[in-house]
Amino acid sequence: MKPRVFADANEPILTAYEEEVSGEAYFAALAEQHDGRASEALMLIAEMEVVTARLFRPVIDAAGLHPRSAEELVREGRDDAEALRGTSWTEFLASMRDGYDAYVTEFKGIRAAVKPDFRPHADLLIAHEVAIIDFARAELAGDGNSLSYLHRYLEEARSFA
Ligand SMILES: [Fe+2]
Repeated sequence: MKPRVFADANEPILTAYEEEVSGEAYFAALAEQHDGRASEALMLIAEMEVVTARLFRPVIDAAGLHPRSAEELVREGRDDAEALRGTSWTEFLASMRDGYDAYVTEFKGIRAAVKPDFRPHADLLIAHEVAIIDFARAELAGDGNSLSYLHRYLEEARSFA
């Protein structure tokens, strides 16, 4: 997966926000397809998406952007999860480990484009993606503490003012 090319400076900001909203539904639906530790991790990631969307929202509002309806975004997330039915946990982890760097690159682009006031918000976006990649790498390596990357991000986000 390669970072996408956007039409203007606002498009990646809007896309990032919308993908956190659809992402919650996506990871929650995937959590239902799996069980045990996989399901637990996917629910934590869904929670990360909720928190990240909420904390990033002021950036959207300040730019005067109008995200698509939550209903539409949730449907999109569920459909994307449904398309992955049958994918093994290991395959899914590998796709996150190897594919999500593209999002980190996109979010760094956002960080470079926003006003200084919103850099902490962009940093949070970057941190949530890095946490997921670190988790996937650790989980694939059989690290029993892999979930700590997800918990740590959630703690960091909770202390975000
Ligand atoms: Fe996300």
